[in-house]
Amino acid sequence: MKTLEVLGNPTEQKYTVQAATSEHLHLAEAICHEMEESAKARGTGIAKRSPEYLRVKINEGKAIIATDNNGDFVGFCYIETWEHGNFVANSGLIVKPEWRQYGVAKKVKEFAFQLSRTKYPDAKIIGITTSLAVMKINSELGYEPTTFSRLPVDDAFWNGCKSCVNYDVLSRTDRKLCLCTGMIFDPEWEKKAKERTEEEPAPTQETSKQEIHSGWNFLKDVKVLERLKSIKEKLFLRLKSRKSERELA
Ligand SMILES: CC(C)(COP(=O)(O)OP(=O)(O)OC[C@H]1O[C@@H](n2cnc3c(N)ncnc32)[C@H](O)[C@@H]1OP(=O)(O)O)[C@@H](O)C(=O)NCCC(=O)NCCS
Repeated sequence: MKTLEVLGNPTEQKYTVQAATSEHLHLAEAICHEMEESAKARGTGIAKRSPEYLRVKINEGKAIIATDNNGDFVGFCYIETWEHGNFVANSGLIVKPEWRQYGVAKKVKEFAFQLSRTKYPDAKIIGITTSLAVMKINSELGYEPTTFSRLPVDDAFWNGCKSCVNYDVLSRTDRKLCLCTGMIFDPEWEKKAKERTEEEPAPTQETSKQEIHSGWNFLKDVKVLERLKSIKEKLFLRLKSRKSERELA
């Protein structure tokens, strides 16, 4: 896929988004460092990624990187596959703090989404996240919220959650619920929408966009989602602290 050049900031600087190459291998340490610092700041755990792991992803052509004029990293994520390529996730999304809120994550995720679809056209693209920014971006790309039962059953997929501070919640609910929201994009939706539009009169641009999804308007419902997140936090985290109190007693 072609390198994308965007006018971004800070301050009035262009940045480029591309599939990472051997030229970017030396940035793996800085990216890992930023992932760890951001996880600490958010008070969450993260799936542990070593610089070596990121270098493997870069060498496989499965990493997406945004860099500034000096070649420094601005944003990053990589492609992960599960169950023999039936599921694809765009993981490890990180944007350097000073570059946040300028649309970098959106561009990196868009690139990762297109690259994933080119490499694995029949795969379902999935993600689990507590980040509203990520939910928003995923939603615009055509993902929908899903139950955990539609995500991979593979232990390897869920092992990524083990270093999260809320892993206990996931274990207690037998992987049915956690603070994260599961999201999925199924390429079948597009195929079906295409078949329908071939049979029906040409839709307007807006209706054709709506047909790709089954109709959930994330942007309209963001307040509902925030409320749901807060209820889950109150419910699960309170149960969690009661459990620790019992264990200490
Ligand atoms: C989450 C993160 C990747 C977002 O990066 P970013 O470049 O600032 O995001 P963007 O500027 O592309 O924003 C995309 C959308 O999300 C919104 N957004 C950004 N940060 C947000 C936040 N903290 N809360 C709610 N919405 C947010 C933006 O307003 C934008 O919406 P819009 O298109 O309606 O304007 C970045 O904050 C980060 O690296 N955080 C630490 C690591 C992390 O949380 N990774 C995600 C793990 S799942």
